[in-house]
Amino acid sequence: MRVNQNRNDWKRENGTWGKDMQINRGIQAVFLILILLSVPLPKRFADPEVIPTAVEPGRGKVAITFDDGPNGATTPVLLDGLKERGVRATFFVVGENIEKGANRDMIERMYEEGHLIGNHTYSHADLASLSPEQAKAELDRADQIIEAITGEKPWIVRAPYGRLPDGMEEDAHRLYVKWTVDPLDWKVGDAGIVADSVTRQAGEGDIILLHDCYASSVEAALRIIDGMQEQGYEFVTVDELLMN
Ligand code: NI
Repeated sequence: MRVNQNRNDWKRENGTWGKDMQINRGIQAVFLILILLSVPLPKRFADPEVIPTAVEPGRGKVAITFDDGPNGATTPVLLDGLKERGVRATFFVVGENIEKGANRDMIERMYEEGHLIGNHTYSHADLASLSPEQAKAELDRADQIIEAITGEKPWIVRAPYGRLPDGMEEDAHRLYVKWTVDPLDWKVGDAGIVADSVTRQAGEGDIILLHDCYASSVEAALRIIDGMQEQGYEFVTVDELLMN
């Protein structure tokens, strides 16, 4: 969610996902396979070892993802923690948040430190409520802001509220990525509860959803990583997880 945004919007999103999780997982899997066939291999996939990982192999790969940033107060704390742990994450960033303060520096840092940067629209728009042209404009505007910093156009998207734009199945240039584990961190607001919830639910191949705009979520993320690394899981970016 956008920082300080009405949380009712999130109830819609998470309610929809909860009810349809199994169906969505199936649709997601089929959809991803179809899209992956038509998406060119990203440049960085060929050189994934930007940050060396320091975990015991064995339990499989998981991806941890962060929506709605960057946030000037909380995102740097997360980036420090990820760096200490040798973990690469996936960030679905909001274009207008990048334009605030010195937040563009964080996008540069994410890129340099090997994290995968995805598009979460320019203004955290509900793409399903827009015309195809408006939805494209929301995505393109965020793409341009990110590309101006990293030199690379993002090719993965997480649609705000999990609501996809009309005609998305014809968009071969973008991969829409949902999630499989959602601890409702924005609502729970307690690092311990969020971390326990994720550690209980998550396993090989899961995509964990958190929001780096909350201090409690950042703390939870680092606890999740510590706990799951100890169990032998390896944290990878979403592209690495999906293309395996
Ligand atoms: Ni969001």
